[in-house]
Amino acid sequence: MTKRTGCLKYDNKIILAPMVRVGTLPMRLLALHYGADIVYTEELIDWKLIKSTRRTNEALGTIDYIDQSDGTVVFRTCSLEKDRVVVQLGTCDSQRALKVAKIIENDVAGIDINMGCPKEFSLKGGMGAALLTQRENAKAILSTLVKNLTIPVTCKIRVFENLEDTIQLVKDLASTGIAAIAVHGRTKAERPQHLNRNSTIAAIAKHLDIPVIANGGSREIDKYKDILKFREDCGASSVMVARAAEGNCSIFCRTGMKDLECVITEYLKLAIDYDNSPSNTKYCVQNMLKELQETPRGKKFLECQTLEQICSIWNLGEYCRMKQLEFQANGMLGRREVCP
Ligand code: FNR
Repeated sequence: MTKRTGCLKYDNKIILAPMVRVGTLPMRLLALHYGADIVYTEELIDWKLIKSTRRTNEALGTIDYIDQSDGTVVFRTCSLEKDRVVVQLGTCDSQRALKVAKIIENDVAGIDINMGCPKEFSLKGGMGAALLTQRENAKAILSTLVKNLTIPVTCKIRVFENLEDTIQLVKDLASTGIAAIAVHGRTKAERPQHLNRNSTIAAIAKHLDIPVIANGGSREIDKYKDILKFREDCGASSVMVARAAEGNCSIFCRTGMKDLECVITEYLKLAIDYDNSPSNTKYCVQNMLKELQETPRGKKFLECQTLEQICSIWNLGEYCRMKQLEFQANGMLGRREVCP
């Protein structure tokens, strides 16, 4: 199918990696604000999106996919990210993947298939890293999407121990017509403490003529220049950053990182503006605070149950209250749920 005009290109890009619970709308917008070129959503499981209902949220200026059983937001997006947001799908079935991709196709810039998640939940369901060894199914999912969508399709993989097996894998996947491939340089069994196999990514980049997006370098990424160094070490066209961005999203700033207080404040402002759930907001701030959760202020933060309470700690309590009243006046129900 002819791709949409002006469609997303993946070469020479710095990208926010997919991260469950972290890659929700406020974090994606913050990453774009700081200079990321492309932002991936957290992994969204195909059937969850299929079951959801698409709604235009006039009060927030967003498109929401709502889980009808409990009213929670499965996916929220807005025009600010429309041409730069890639939805990552968790799937094991080409027809289900196509069905969901068709539903969201006009709201997003690209679709990615998760072929790297090593978690039990994914593997049992034939998703994530299970697809690395189910080659025909992996290819069927990608080629079905490539043939039938107007937006580009990518996948994110892990590597095998053996270089030749890895090269064969990426050649097979690339033959489906995908626009780029993201490579986390660890095997399914390896964990973040293991060295990232940068030289394997470099070998992959040499063998493919589509952009290779290097991933797995956060341990060595403390500032923007380290992202470029990682890209160079991997001989890759683009880089995808997860943990370094989770800890301080201003890693994407070309002019230098912002201090954490500033980043948290900017993040919370977006969480308020887009009515992010208190539990998701709290989770993301916790991942930024890390050991600072042990300080008296951190402990006070951990006791917070509502978005307003969280925001008060960063002097945004009044702004939060005002916005929530505004949303209610515009017909949106204010969030009442408490954090777990
Ligand atoms: C991840 N990762 C991940 N990968 C993926 O393909 N889909 C996902 O939904 C997630 N979720 C997720 C959540 C969190 C909290 C973390 C820290 C990581 C893996 C991630 O995208 C990346 O591959 C690894 O973290 C390695 O890259 P970094 O962290 O070294 O930049």
